[in-house]
Amino acid sequence: MARHQTSALLRERGQRRPEHLTERRARPPIVELRKVGKVYPGGHVALERVSLRVDRGEFVFLVGPTGCGKSTLIKLLIRELEPTQGEVLIAGRDIATLPDKRIPHLRRRIGTVFQDFKLLPSRTVYDNVAYALQVIGASRAEIRSKVPDALRLVGLADKTGNYPDQLSGGEQQRLSVARAFVNHPPLLLADEPTGNLDPATSVGIMQTLYRINKTGTTVVVVTHDREMVDKMRRRVIALEAGHVVRDQAAGRYTDEESTREFAARLRDEMGVEDEAY
Ligand SMILES: Nc1ncnc2c1ncn2[C@@H]1O[C@H](COP(=O)(O)OP(=O)(O)OP(=O)(O)O)[C@@H](O)[C@H]1O
Ligand SMILES: [Mg+2]
Repeated sequence: MARHQTSALLRERGQRRPEHLTERRARPPIVELRKVGKVYPGGHVALERVSLRVDRGEFVFLVGPTGCGKSTLIKLLIRELEPTQGEVLIAGRDIATLPDKRIPHLRRRIGTVFQDFKLLPSRTVYDNVAYALQVIGASRAEIRSKVPDALRLVGLADKTGNYPDQLSGGEQQRLSVARAFVNHPPLLLADEPTGNLDPATSVGIMQTLYRINKTGTTVVVVTHDREMVDKMRRRVIALEAGHVVRDQAAGRYTDEESTREFAARLRDEMGVEDEAY
């Protein structure tokens, strides 16, 4: 008997469909790009036929040479830019179809962290995070409970009264991560969050993002930090000239070395001539 007939019959009898017949609809991926192209005014092609999916709970590095389209891709996900071709879906919804008044709602569900922190200089650490909740109409009680949690998560609980210029670069970035995460968004996008930080401080930021990912938030990180990507061994999506050229689970910053490259590096490091091999 066809499924819809079964359903109709059960409905008639006022019964629920037995568990084994229930069609479990899989939740759509949190991010999906379908043949997305972006041409900037003036004709520069920044992305071309980019298709990819990111599932809920993933931690993804987006890598590639300067100008390959990474930031463009991030901006498309929050509709700061609109694609020239193709579709950008967030949680199964083509965001081009969202009416303008729904855009704030979309952005509320996507935390963003940028290289230049974008903090409010005249507000304290506490107020920088509280502000993110105030603008979405959170109650005072909610603000009082969520802000300290977010600051604790990033290790800034003892700096709540400082102003941004009384923080180190790493602390400023942790503050911007707290602000992005305070509302527990299902998706967090970070565009070169460690771009201005020294290696040791960068590790702290990446650990914070990793901790956030462990709470269930999907995290997408644009980075040039080769060492970090190689160490963390998460999914790596590599772009080149607007195309996805690699998408690898537990990947590295660049493709694995070929045997020939390995031999060349060894020769180089050991200071021996080609003939020896
Ligand atoms: N508003 C714009 N108008 C025209 N071209 C642009 C604009 N923004 C970016 N581009 C071009 O599109 C391409 C992709 O830019 P994008 O900022 O996405 O690169 P990226 O991968 O983030 O680079 P980086 O690693 O340097 O941040 C670049 O060639 C850039 O010059
Ligand atoms: Mg960029």
